[in-house]
Amino acid sequence: MQFSCLLHGGDYNPDQWLDRPDILAADIDLMKKAHINCVSVGIFAWSRLEPEEGRYDFDWLEAIITNLYQNGISTILATPSGAKPAWMSRKYPEIRRVSRDMTRDLHGKRHNHCYTSPVYREKVRQINTALAERFAHHPGVILWHLSNEYGGKCYCPLCQQAFCGWLREKYGTLDALNKAWWTDFWSHRYSSWDEIEAPVPAGEESVHGLNLDWNRFCTHQTNDFIRWEAESVKAVRPDLPVTANFMYFFDELDYYTLKDSVDVISWDAYPTWGENEESEAEVARRFAFNHDLMRSLKKQPFLLMESSPSATNWQPVSKLKRPGVHMLSSMQAIAHGSNSVQYFQWRKSRGAFEKFHGAVVDHYGGSDTRVFRDVAQVGERLEALGGLIPTCNRSQVAIVYDWENLWAVNDAKGPRNCGLKYRETVLSHYAPFWKMGINVDVIDETCDLDGYRLVILPMLYLLRDGFAEKLRRFTDQGGTVVATYWTGIVDSTDLCWLGGMPGDGLMELFGLRSEEIDALYDGQYNSIKPQQSGLFPAKDYRVSELCDLVIPSTAQTLAVYGSDFYAGRPALTVNQFGQGEAYYIAARAEDAFQEDFYGALAQKLHLDRALSCTLPEGVTAVRRSGDSFDAVTVMNFTPTPQEIRFPETAEVWETGAPVNGALSLAPYEVVVLKLAASSR
Ligand code: GAL
Repeated sequence: MQFSCLLHGGDYNPDQWLDRPDILAADIDLMKKAHINCVSVGIFAWSRLEPEEGRYDFDWLEAIITNLYQNGISTILATPSGAKPAWMSRKYPEIRRVSRDMTRDLHGKRHNHCYTSPVYREKVRQINTALAERFAHHPGVILWHLSNEYGGKCYCPLCQQAFCGWLREKYGTLDALNKAWWTDFWSHRYSSWDEIEAPVPAGEESVHGLNLDWNRFCTHQTNDFIRWEAESVKAVRPDLPVTANFMYFFDELDYYTLKDSVDVISWDAYPTWGENEESEAEVARRFAFNHDLMRSLKKQPFLLMESSPSATNWQPVSKLKRPGVHMLSSMQAIAHGSNSVQYFQWRKSRGAFEKFHGAVVDHYGGSDTRVFRDVAQVGERLEALGGLIPTCNRSQVAIVYDWENLWAVNDAKGPRNCGLKYRETVLSHYAPFWKMGINVDVIDETCDLDGYRLVILPMLYLLRDGFAEKLRRFTDQGGTVVATYWTGIVDSTDLCWLGGMPGDGLMELFGLRSEEIDALYDGQYNSIKPQQSGLFPAKDYRVSELCDLVIPSTAQTLAVYGSDFYAGRPALTVNQFGQGEAYYIAARAEDAFQEDFYGALAQKLHLDRALSCTLPEGVTAVRRSGDSFDAVTVMNFTPTPQEIRFPETAEVWETGAPVNGALSLAPYEVVVLKLAASSR
């Protein structure tokens, strides 16, 4: 799915200014000045669109969309289900969500409707159909923005009933369910389907299989609602694409399950630039990972649907973006595969919850502001970079980040209830590639492994059916797999593998058995001592938190523990499996270990870097590949100037100025290079 240009714009809420035609007129002039070519309209406009039940008022919306179109600005049109009108909440209590304390919400806020309620679904279908009939063929409308940031769970009787129905379909018999959930533990055996309740603090939360299935069901039910919305607009015009804006590390919904319900992936990114806890480079890495995840969902470019042009008003501190950071942050999204830079929000609202949230146009109302100038510069640059549209990032490396695994690993009791740190672990295995300028896909266990050279499994505790077999095939055919401690512990119903771990045939793949795992208190350490293997330097690395004690069968030991009663036992191993190799990292190692280890592996496997050079600390480069040209975006996430040297012949994308192997970057500067397409 491609648009004709890189999109630049954002959430536009004219519904808040209908009594101010002067402001609506000024918006168009200002948008042109800011190089805006696309806005998202109507996201929270339901009470204006349907002021009374069944009476639609779309004339104002039509005037806005047409005016935008006549001025060269296209519209991403929202379905309004993200916030329901007060009359609806009052008349139909069942549409209001029931929260985990089992009380039903009053009317208020947003993102709080029940996904199961037939009444809500019908109301949504009716207004979506009416909107589609009026606007789906409008030449200004290019995409549907379904609702807003789907999320949240409802515990109402309708949802509980749907959950039971979903379980019946999944398990067929109560016996099968009782077995899968291991309900004989604490005498939790169910004897009738209607005894099953969603997990809540006042009720059942100790059955891991139930918790996992409830998470799956909530994704299923949300997905069903998304499809319902998509079908309602597509019934009118099937070829107008839909998107739904996803969120940063959103644990609640398995985006891999949702990805096929939308035509285009989009997401909202609000990096916490300038915070105390992390450097800009560390913040950049977390967001790079999420950009890569969004691109990997469909293995296609995505849209950055929201970002703040300056500060947010919901982070602990509303820090302004330092000079250069807005451009850098926007270009980071483009580098990782976005074909847009969209903002929340175009114009600051005058009242209510977000009146101090960053916007392109401040309460002041003019274009002579620092933020406006920053935004206009991004718009100008995106126009010059239009040739990037057909390019996309290609990766030889995949990191598995799997929602079902996330839910299970975070729910398990032990071995470190003070923090297993799945997300942090995944990021620490991602960071070395970011530093080397090597593209990474973020995949889950349902994805194909074909085409990758290296697949990394940080803490892949839960093995879904068939994934171990995929790994064995991949390795057998010459792929390289790296797993860490706490991999292959439970099956897809959260039952521990019997007969040795890692389970489901992974003992054979890694050539070892995990005998027991030691958990360390915070502040306690052990070390990894590499043996002479030629793979990486023979220096000690600090390890903490989790130390797996493995017994190799066919694996070769590459490093051992330095202390405690398991000093000398294997801490890093490799096993030849068919044509490939399977590495096992037994302990949570400091970042330096990951850097040296993956640095060595990148060389050994001849992994492609965006540029054939070592990048300075805090600088990265990301490649989007095209048929004739590749684009390499080089980004300096440090407050100091940086120099890089590389052997490739390149030119600056926008100007065509030659770059002869050396590039100087000002603080926070970003440069896009054009290179001949690589043969990959
Ligand atoms: C997003 C949301 C927007 C706005 C924004 C503020 O999560 O979709 O409507 O609230 O946050 O940063």
